[in-house]
Amino acid sequence: MTRTVASLINGGACTDAPGGSLTSTNPARLDDVVAEVRLADATVFVDACRAAREAQPGWARTPAPIRGRAIQQIGRLVEDNKESLARLVTREIGKPYAESLGEVTEIIDTANFFLGEGRRLYGQTVPSEMHDKQLFTFRNPVGVAAIITAGNFPVAVPSWYLIPALLCGNTVVWKPAEYAPVLGEALTELFLHGGLPDGVLNTVLAEGQATFEGLSQALEAGLVDKVGFTGSSEVGSRIGELCGRHLQSPCLELGGKNPLVVMPDADLDLAAEGALFSGFGTAGQRCTSLGTVFVHESVHDDFLARFTQRTEAAAIGDPTAEVLYGPMIHERFAERFGGWLEMIEGHHTVHGSTGTGRITAGNPRKGFVGDPEAGLYYHPTIVDGITAKDELYRTETFGPIVGVGSFGDFDEALELANGHGYGLSSSIYTNSPAAAFRFRERISAGMVSVNNSTSGAEAHLPFGGNGKSGNGSRQSGMWVLDQFTRWQSLNWDYAGKLQKAQMDVTDVSADLGFRLPD
Ligand code: UN1
Repeated sequence: MTRTVASLINGGACTDAPGGSLTSTNPARLDDVVAEVRLADATVFVDACRAAREAQPGWARTPAPIRGRAIQQIGRLVEDNKESLARLVTREIGKPYAESLGEVTEIIDTANFFLGEGRRLYGQTVPSEMHDKQLFTFRNPVGVAAIITAGNFPVAVPSWYLIPALLCGNTVVWKPAEYAPVLGEALTELFLHGGLPDGVLNTVLAEGQATFEGLSQALEAGLVDKVGFTGSSEVGSRIGELCGRHLQSPCLELGGKNPLVVMPDADLDLAAEGALFSGFGTAGQRCTSLGTVFVHESVHDDFLARFTQRTEAAAIGDPTAEVLYGPMIHERFAERFGGWLEMIEGHHTVHGSTGTGRITAGNPRKGFVGDPEAGLYYHPTIVDGITAKDELYRTETFGPIVGVGSFGDFDEALELANGHGYGLSSSIYTNSPAAAFRFRERISAGMVSVNNSTSGAEAHLPFGGNGKSGNGSRQSGMWVLDQFTRWQSLNWDYAGKLQKAQMDVTDVSADLGFRLPD
């Protein structure tokens, strides 16, 4: 069934399409049109921000435990609609169904974490330097949050923003990825049915340029107080620049070139299994996907053989079946894949499949599940021989292509793991606690795994990166509260007279010449 989806502002659908329209297509079956999409333009984006601005004081006045109750109901609705939402994830972006279920679970986990936060959202009492005076801290909502998300985690990653932002008393304008609009509408419906008043969550379906213009105008008009963005480092830096002009620091979750270091003492089967999952799971389209494996030269050939064997044997194809990965999530990523393959140089060797590039009847993949011609399927590609000089070493590739390089000593491994300038996720396989802790200390990434792959962060640990991967903001768990609240301090003097800080303070007399007898 093809449906029509549109922006949802102030509880109502915007059925006209000032930004034009597009069709959302199932990337696993290109003849399956999931929806006709009515797009908004910059003006509609600004209107959405205005609706959010009007709704914000009322939502902020709603007691936090009651906002927590709304989050609880949203989590429950998501849970009760788990299979249908997961089926829609698989249909609209081609994620294997088991992973889609995992993605929906990530929303439920996030709701479960934050529903209790409604009864905490703690401030502090702080001692004063004077009598009859008390000091306090409070967390205040920031105001209106504009959230712009990518389509590779079309519902889980948005929930990482939406749930804490709403719980903290902010109202939200959410712009889902253009290629996951039906999921954008579905998640919004679940949130609205969970009990959010009109205007508290407004979802705008729009293209990138219209969104950027709308965001600029809304910031200019003072309608947005916080921006959250998950996407490329390139767009992230433009958003950071724009927000900086308005003295705002956005929450940026950007690209990665996540390294996986294999030490000579590592369990090579475990490392190969981790590399397979984080390199090729989701067809390499996670921001936590493995970029390059750096293997100690003494075990390089052995590791490569094990990794290659697993990759050759992996089931790839129809995402409704049991496969490691399905199609590229959208044509825009499929089109870029050829460019990444062109970065393979003469000193590299290629492994992992019966071909490279798009899987077709003429360029088949042994053991492919289903009809390759039906969707945007690509061969898994392992590129061995990566060095720090290579384009593939420093370029984020958002697809099923993984580099392998080697190192002689630990310092060289660290240099290779950090030298590309991204710093999102990282991993080391070793049985040496000293190597693991030294790696943690010296790796520039915000997230580190020991004997686990670069992917698969749990929903209540800080998530975020450094360098080209972000501006230091962190999502998830209690750490994201600092993105969606501002600390306010209160001092309350009940002495009945003016007491001046630093001046009217009792002194403590001391005998500083005192020395212990020898
Ligand atoms: C992303 O790719 O934007 O850690 C998020 C993971 C997932 C989230 C990835 N839990 O791989």
